[in-house]
Amino acid sequence: MKRSIYAGRVRSEHVGQELTLKGWIARRRDLGGLIFLDLRDREGIMQLVINPEVVSSELMQEAESLRTEYVVEVTGRVEAREQANPKLATGQVELQVRELVILNKAKTTPFEIKDGIEINDDTRLRYRYLDLRRPEMLENLRLRAKVTHSIRNYLDDLEFLDVETPFLSKSTPEGARDYLVPSRISQGHFYALPQSPQITKQLLMNAGFDRYYQIVKCFRDEDLRGDRQPEFTQVDLETSFLDEEEIQTITEGLLAKVMKEVKGLDLSLPLPRMSYDQAMNVYGSDKPDTRFEMLLQDLTDLVKGSDFKVFAQAPAVKAIVVKNAADKYSRKDIDKLTEQAKQHGAKGLAWLKFNEGQLAGPVAKFLTDLSSKLTEALQLENNDLVLFVADSLEVANNTLGALRNRLAKDLDLIDKNQFNFLWVVDWPMFEWSDEEGRYMSAHHPFTLPQKNSSHELEGDLSKVRACAYDIVLNGYELGGGSLRINERKLQERMFAALGFSQAEAEQEFGFLLEAMDYGFPPHGGLALGLDRLVMLLAGQDNIREVIAFPKNNKASDPMTQAPSPVADKQLAELSLQVEEYEKD
Ligand code: AMO
Ligand code: AMP
Repeated sequence: MKRSIYAGRVRSEHVGQELTLKGWIARRRDLGGLIFLDLRDREGIMQLVINPEVVSSELMQEAESLRTEYVVEVTGRVEAREQANPKLATGQVELQVRELVILNKAKTTPFEIKDGIEINDDTRLRYRYLDLRRPEMLENLRLRAKVTHSIRNYLDDLEFLDVETPFLSKSTPEGARDYLVPSRISQGHFYALPQSPQITKQLLMNAGFDRYYQIVKCFRDEDLRGDRQPEFTQVDLETSFLDEEEIQTITEGLLAKVMKEVKGLDLSLPLPRMSYDQAMNVYGSDKPDTRFEMLLQDLTDLVKGSDFKVFAQAPAVKAIVVKNAADKYSRKDIDKLTEQAKQHGAKGLAWLKFNEGQLAGPVAKFLTDLSSKLTEALQLENNDLVLFVADSLEVANNTLGALRNRLAKDLDLIDKNQFNFLWVVDWPMFEWSDEEGRYMSAHHPFTLPQKNSSHELEGDLSKVRACAYDIVLNGYELGGGSLRINERKLQERMFAALGFSQAEAEQEFGFLLEAMDYGFPPHGGLALGLDRLVMLLAGQDNIREVIAFPKNNKASDPMTQAPSPVADKQLAELSLQVEEYEKD
């Protein structure tokens, strides 16, 4: 029979109607001869009753064989429940079953299909289809669909054209490793899966499309983290003839619409803007979480004359004050914080506790002369804990920024219902890589340098600023974008600054340089990490929770066993050979 309605949508208004429902048995209880079943489908759970006084003994027997996760079709009358269940949307009613068809049976599932249970991550991924039956997972994916729907409507209304770009493409430098796909027809040659559609979307601007968007998979072979997957989705935009401000305004409108439609929250626009330098100096991060204070304080000048050589001689001395937390951190706890500080390159972590007007701690004795100045500068109050790092400005900022985030979590300082968006602007164009021994792009090599610094591409590269902007939400980099270079000369200078020889630039990006000879308009855009946005809206802390079939932290899929070895024949067709390797 045809299904009348989703089980989860049956309400009091259906009382008296004869309905056919289809779904999974979520629970079975036998009570005084009656069988009560919870029937689950996409929209929720509905109670079924099978009464031996109403149905045949064959049907009763059939019902007795039912186990959880059997798939059934039931037909019967909707009746008002004697005792309503306020926890269920369908709790006012039940279905008095008259007909039952078992559509399929199920083995006992490896874990219970319900929310809030502890399951090993790989088991969840091994049986992802069962994991996705859990209501909270369905909700996450439903939220994701709602977000993309809202985004599409917004961009369609603004006349952005949805254009697909190739997956079998050429390497695009976004700072990660490429996933390569060997070509059978051009032996020894490889496609790269795009790390983003960066160059192709720029070429669409050259084509005169003016406004492009795509909700698109990107591929990056990098180490996994909670907010990183090897394949992930971007909301990718590009526009012609707009300035930074205009692109940011479009993005803000998009975020405001999503927040309103998905969370019912009004975003106050325009969003705050913070320079990269300010973010680093005050929050110790290029993606500051502004939901809590604990700002970084600069004490370099104040401690210049101190007896503590570590402080007196360091290029920068910075501190954070952990309010009212001195009694919460034992020496052992501080040792752990010191360990973390060292992972960020700090040589140590000095600390003081402020109690009854006195500074205490191993370095207090060196700072007695400065004690009142410090107390005043840091506005210390009873039971405050102060953590100091003396090092290069970069190490001091990064270390304290990381500790700041950790301490806020440990001390539960974060209001989980707050959504703090902000723009980080005025980015440096380049960052130095010790590993590569050269300057690298802070974003990508197509980013336009700010006007007043563009001619300096040959001078001190650390000073060059970019027309680039990142959008940050609650301490996560949600997205980033920039104005782009559209002139061949400047693009060539950029490649040279990044250490490409002319021949290398020509070989890798000749097609882009050539396009610049044919009337490339000024353009710019941005990409949002859709997975991160949905993760934050869903209140989750791993993007796996909002991706239907994600990879585990070894970048593999425990269900399909991808990646997996391939047949020799396939390798032979590609003229590939796999060298001996260590199996783990
Ligand atoms: P970017 O490299 O900053 O910019 O990427 C944009 C956004 O994509 C998300 N993101 C990821 N999400 C999950 N897993 C990953 N491995 C991952 N990597 C990135 C982040 C990030 O902010 N082409 C440029 C955009 C532009 O200039 O228009 C780009 O890709 O949320
Ligand atoms: P030391 O004199 O090396 O025993 O260090 C005394 C205290 O200062 C210890 O708590 C160290 O962790 C801390 N310390 C050492 N070097 C630094 C540094 N560069 N910045 C901040 N604290 C430091």
